Amino acid sequence: MTTSPHESEKLRLLAVELAQEAGDLIRERPDTLHVTSKSSPTDAVTQMDAASEELLRRRLSEVRPDDAILGEECPDTPGTSGLTWVLDPIDGTVNYLYDSLQYAVSVAVVEGSNDPSSWAAVAGAVCRPSTGDTWSAAAGAGAFRGERRCQVRGTHDLGTALVATGFGYTVERRTHQAHVVSKVIPAVRDIRRGGSAALDLCAVADGSLDAYYEKGLGPWDHAAGALIATEAGAIVTDGRGGQPTSELIVAGGPAVHDALARCVNKAMHDAPGG
Ligand code: IPD
Ligand code: CA
Repeated sequence: MTTSPHESEKLRLLAVELAQEAGDLIRERPDTLHVTSKSSPTDAVTQMDAASEELLRRRLSEVRPDDAILGEECPDTPGTSGLTWVLDPIDGTVNYLYDSLQYAVSVAVVEGSNDPSSWAAVAGAVCRPSTGDTWSAAAGAGAFRGERRCQVRGTHDLGTALVATGFGYTVERRTHQAHVVSKVIPAVRDIRRGGSAALDLCAVADGSLDAYYEKGLGPWDHAAGALIATEAGAIVTDGRGGQPTSELIVAGGPAVHDALARCVNKAMHDAPGG
């Protein structure tokens, strides 16, 4: 990490400001949401996803013009500073579409690479505008929900762990994931499907979940949340000791993480498809 602690803290505060500004924008739902689809008919995107990303990009071009941007809805913007902003303008778009509260804006800044398997996360923020909550972290400086420090739960036994997961948008991926979750359910206390990966990771950070896993995330889904969970004491990996990737993310307190990673890896190996 070449970014200093002082600079990381400034970037955390900027991530919070940007996530909250975009959160304010999307909280004001228009009367009509124009919905189009992406990877499958169930993979929705609305004009508010685009508007939120436009706001974030416009603000970054004003205050951080040398940084690169990797966002869910727009082509990549190259940069020269070595820092990349990783943006999810609405995480939980399907919840947003149904006027359900569990959606978020996720803003992270990483250094060294724009590939989650090798980047170093510097700072990030996740804003849930429907409740006014914002989680944030800077590398090495802890995680916060508002001003309150976050700490993962100390659950030791996977059998009593409350575990969240999520599902992709294609029939093949969902069929595979259904097989995997059928092997995980008997091994844990219960399963949750919240509909926002960023918020699932923040829930691990503040102890309202013990653990979370998912296959197939985009980098913007987990960039901020993975740092927030890590800074709250979670282990966050690809299930094999590396950094999370689109192949797999597993997050949880140290004891639960390892047991869940073993369980999910075996289930993925045995399940058809992928
Ligand atoms: C989705 C959410 C969901 C997860 C999906 C993601 P989107 O992001 O994070 O919880 O299960 O894999 O694609 O499409 O709402 O930005
Ligand atoms: Ca997302």
